Amino acid sequence: MADVIIVGDGGHSKVVRECLEQQGVDTIIGILDNKYTSYEKNGAQFRAPFDDFEQYKKDTTLWFIAIGDNKARAGVAAKLGDVRYATIIHPTAIISKAATIEPGTVIMPLAVVQPDSVIGAHTIINTGAIVEHDVIISEAAHVSPRATVTGGVKIGTGVHVGASAVVNPGVDLGAYSVIGAGAVVVGDTEAGMTYVGVPARKLER
Ligand SMILES: CC(C)(COP(=O)(O)OP(=O)(O)OC[C@H]1O[C@@H](n2cnc3c(N)ncnc32)[C@H](O)[C@@H]1OP(=O)(O)O)[C@@H](O)C(=O)NCCC(=O)NCCS
Repeated sequence: MADVIIVGDGGHSKVVRECLEQQGVDTIIGILDNKYTSYEKNGAQFRAPFDDFEQYKKDTTLWFIAIGDNKARAGVAAKLGDVRYATIIHPTAIISKAATIEPGTVIMPLAVVQPDSVIGAHTIINTGAIVEHDVIISEAAHVSPRATVTGGVKIGTGVHVGASAVVNPGVDLGAYSVIGAGAVVVGDTEAGMTYVGVPARKLER
């Protein structure tokens, strides 16, 4: 068992902590958050503002950034620097032995990750999401509940795939592009752009 410090105490953190407890490998010792400082300790030994993070750094401690917003999560990872991260996999998730899950990533209940897929650091594979074979996810991405990422898709840093969206085989999603809930993505997406609908079209603003 390792001690884990969770960063973030919003709704996403609640689900992450549930997954970690169900995984039953590590123990949450603290929760750091600048915003929700008046909340309960939620079973942890301490809670503190995130800005105090330096004093909690220890070689033996693992960290986990449980913030749903991709940019914010990536920003906190940059601030924390050289710490070790937990990998959280809910016991009902199905992960191929030939898949790679990088540290700082959570795989939620009933999600599936197929062979030769790589899930980069600080990524969320949410409840019931499917990541098919040979999918390469960079980092700090989010595949939302029940989304389907088909074979050979490439997902750039910080991409958000909305709930129940489908990404067709071999498509390349540009960094920080956003896919709306229920969209079917049939072609590559431009970095930072939002796509909605079936077939998915870029939102012009
Ligand atoms: C795509 C999305 C990011 C757009 O949000 P937004 O930037 O705030 O955009 P708006 O709500 O202003 O909508 C802009 C337009 O796109 C349309 N639109 C928004 N989301 C859409 C969707 N999922 N499918 C189809 N059309 C959508 C709106 O109706 C609106 O159309 P209009 O200009 O004709 O009125 C958001 O609606 C969405 O689907 N997010 C996914 C959320 C999710 O799955 N979260 C998982 C959390 S676990």
